[in-house]
Amino acid sequence: MSKSTIRKIAILTGGGDCPGLNAAIRSVVQTAILEYGIQVVGVPDGFKGLLENKFVPLDLMNTTGIFAKGGTILGSSNVDTPFSVPVVKGGEKTYEDRSDEVIEHLKRERVDAMIVVGGDGTQAMSHAMAQKGVKVVGIPKTIDNDLNGTEFTIGFFTAVATAVDALDKLHTTAESHHRIMVVELMGRNAGWIALFAGLGGDADVILIPEIDYQLDKVAAFLNDLHHTRKRYSIVVVAEGAKPLGGDVTVSKVIEDSPEKIRLGGIGQRVAHDLEKLTGRETRAITLGHLLRGGPPEGFDRILASRFGVAAVKAVVEGKYDTMVAYRNDNVELVPLETGAGKNRFISTDSPFLLAARKRGINFGD
Ligand code: F6P
Repeated sequence: MSKSTIRKIAILTGGGDCPGLNAAIRSVVQTAILEYGIQVVGVPDGFKGLLENKFVPLDLMNTTGIFAKGGTILGSSNVDTPFSVPVVKGGEKTYEDRSDEVIEHLKRERVDAMIVVGGDGTQAMSHAMAQKGVKVVGIPKTIDNDLNGTEFTIGFFTAVATAVDALDKLHTTAESHHRIMVVELMGRNAGWIALFAGLGGDADVILIPEIDYQLDKVAAFLNDLHHTRKRYSIVVVAEGAKPLGGDVTVSKVIEDSPEKIRLGGIGQRVAHDLEKLTGRETRAITLGHLLRGGPPEGFDRILASRFGVAAVKAVVEGKYDTMVAYRNDNVELVPLETGAGKNRFISTDSPFLLAARKRGINFGD
């Protein structure tokens, strides 16, 4: 049992959902109760629930069976922040900082510390809360794997596995029709999902936001491929990829969201242009939110387990304003600021990128 002064922890999941969130919740609940005798409450719908003063008790019984389930039993939101709440006054929309109310709600519920499972946006809110005196520890999650400070985030490997499975299926139909198949994958402004899925799914071309592409080079590569090695091609495009000198393709702007831009549509554009440039039949498919669904695969479950255990330990040891992080096969603590609103991109010397290049995969550069 714990000698710590912590009696009650609140946990919330914020931002876009992903597989493995429930595994993290279960791990936190088990560790808190069994190892330290600490009570746990869940906050519905991320920071929105905190603002609305909502808490639900979590225990060993009501979290049984959630471990392998996709999504989050708590709900999540990637449009709400207590630091900028839209209010309409006199017919005009303004934004209010209502973070003090959140602190009041935590006090009233007698919550001693919080564990926040989220990506860069959610961790930015957590860090801002920590600066106001809230005892917070972050757990990194996002299918995009773009959170600074950690090599891997919960949800990433499941998204990659889903994409690889789709690519395997697209190979056979592309081969039968001798087509170019363009596959658009999520990932925001980072190409992690596209790179890993392209490597694992044996793509011929991978277009990522970190490398501006030139489509004429891609077309020349594909034509050469067609004449010398294989009669069909798989092109993976990250939703944030953009042509040299051009811009990203935006599918939606959500004004009230902390992250206003939603990307999407680049796959169709690339397919259309590649068909023209190569003169070969081309089709596009967007996997979209499929990548966020389904049960977590093995590595995500293990990562979520380790992150949950480490986060509760950090709370008990009083190491606040920190985030658990996966580095060199270890789970370490980094300052929460490291992940708060900060992203990690693929560098030119990434071993994964270099491996793809050595395999002859084209990046449009
Ligand atoms: O951050 C996760 C993510 O799935 C991104 O890959 C994608 O750009 C975005 O969220 C989609 O957001 P929404 O669920 O609001 O459409």
